[in-house]
Order: sequence, then structure tokens, then C-alpha cells
Amino acid sequence: MLETQDLTIRFGGHVAVDHVSCAFAPGTLTAIVGPNGAGKTTYFNLISGQLPASEGRVLLGGQDITTLAAPLRTRRGLGRAFQLTQLFANLTVHENVRLAIQAREAGRGNGGGWGGVDFWRVWLDRKTWLDEAQAILGQVRLSDKAQAHASRLPHGDQRKLEVALLIALDPKVFMFDEPTAGMSVDEVPVILDLIRGLKSRPDCTILLVEHKMDVVRELADRIIVLHNGQLVADGEPAAVIASPVVQQAYLGGPAAEAGLSAEAVGTPPRPLPAKQGGHPA
Ligand SMILES: Nc1ncnc2c1ncn2[C@@H]1O[C@H](COP(=O)(O)OP(=O)(O)O)[C@@H](O)[C@H]1O
Ligand SMILES: [Mg+2]
Repeated sequence: MLETQDLTIRFGGHVAVDHVSCAFAPGTLTAIVGPNGAGKTTYFNLISGQLPASEGRVLLGGQDITTLAAPLRTRRGLGRAFQLTQLFANLTVHENVRLAIQAREAGRGNGGGWGGVDFWRVWLDRKTWLDEAQAILGQVRLSDKAQAHASRLPHGDQRKLEVALLIALDPKVFMFDEPTAGMSVDEVPVILDLIRGLKSRPDCTILLVEHKMDVVRELADRIIVLHNGQLVADGEPAAVIASPVVQQAYLGGPAAEAGLSAEAVGTPPRPLPAKQGGHPA
């Protein structure tokens, strides 16, 4: 579904993502882990088109999208959770979700504007969209905040709204970058349940950057580890979690304190993946 080939970005002399080759299959959830500054968010930005690649390629459904602008990637089914700044702060929660639904439908050529003459059809569509927006807000437990302005939401609710917008867009590839960061303990299960629900859909490809190892262990079909911009481990969750590279990075061994290096903490659980990654596309 999604593949990166030698994907690389340099900021001045610093290589933030360094020749990362990896393929993500439909119906799988891949967790991306690694210490702060490892390049996880930058890798997402390269895939979604927020940053231009210095080298390498991004393929979506076999098509090269490396030079495609971010909105066009979204239209092709690449779903990146919106950042807070991308929310329409002055619109209500419900209006934000409705806009995402309309954007999705417009992208599919289902009108969304008033260009067509079939007002009855447009009205029916709009009714459907309103109901769908309400249903999605129910899923993320934001129904009671539907009429609140997005800008006034507490942090945890803003994160839920980001997930709601992603669900509304209904992409083929869902990219979550620390979706539960900053959430209170009682809010976290709501988001995890949603991701679990998406995972049960055979057509969904999910990429999840997450620090909480218990979450990763439960949800992931596969874990890849980024470190210093490089893919240093790729495999079954149990094996990767047990590997020295992850143990050091997350449980803080001497190597982690000394500045983790793949060489310093031993061999990854598997050899570095070949060009096509460890899993079929
Ligand atoms: N726009 C940018 N300009 C310069 N350096 C950047 C930029 N974006 C990220 N970086 C650097 O790239 C590295 C990886 O950052 P990031 O992808 O945010 O890591 P992670 O998400 O794994 O914590 C860091 O050293 C960061 O400072
Ligand atoms: Mg990050």
C-alpha cells in the first residue's frame, strides 16, 4: 500500500531521515518507535508531503508520489492526523468534522459545493454529512462538545478532534503521531479503541508513532525502530521489544545515557531490511 525507498532528508549537514526503506501492507498496524529526535515525525512529514525529500521515493499503491503536494497526497488516500494549527479554530467542533467530510466527498467527485443543479441531491448529501459528523463525534466521545469552538477545547479534546477529522477523511493509510500524548489517563482508552476499530478493517494501513510500550505491544503487528534517522530494527513486536536496541532506548541502559547507537547496543533483531522492507507491500 505504502512504501518508502531510501527516503532521506537533510537539514544542513544533519540527516534527519537517512535512507529509510520500508513497505506497509494493508490490514496491518506498524508501530514506529525510537528515542526523541530519532526522525519519526520527520519520516511522517516526508510521507505526507509536509517536507520535501532530499533523496529517495514515496510510493502509494505502487505510484510514485514523491513530488506530489501534501493536499494531493491526502486526496489519494494518505491520512495524516491534522495538527492543532490546521483546525479551523473559529468553527465549531461539528463544523470542522463536517468540512473534513465535505472535503473527502469533493475529492471523490461527489460535489460538495453548489455547482450542481440537483439541489435535492445536495440537500440529501448534506443531511447525510451532518449525521455522519455527529456519529464520528460520538465515536470520539465529543458529542457534548459539538457546538464548542475548536479553539476553546482542552488539549485532550483537541487531540480527539484531530482523530475525528482523520476518520472523517476516511483515508487508506492512517498516520498517527503520538495520538495520546498529553491526554489524561481516562481519555487514552477512547483513542486506543478507535485505533483498534480501524485495525479490524482489512483495508486499513495504519502507522502509529507511540512511546507507550504497553500500547505498542497490544496494537502493533510489527514494530520498526528509528534511531538517528536510520531504520535499525524491523520485526514482530515481541522480538523487537526484547531486542537490546529497544531495551536500551526505553528502559534506559548505559548505552541510552551515553547516547544510543545501534552499533553500541548490539545487533538489531533482524538484519536491516532489504529494499522492499521486511513485509510485502
Ligand atoms: N524543519 C526542520 N529543520 C531542521 N531540523 C529539523 C527539522 N525538523 C526536524 N528536525 C530535526 O530532525 C531530527 C528528528 O526530529 P523528529 O523527526 O521530530 O524526531 P522524533 O519525532 O523522532 O522525536 C531532530 O534532530 C530535529 O531537530
Ligand atoms: Mg515526533
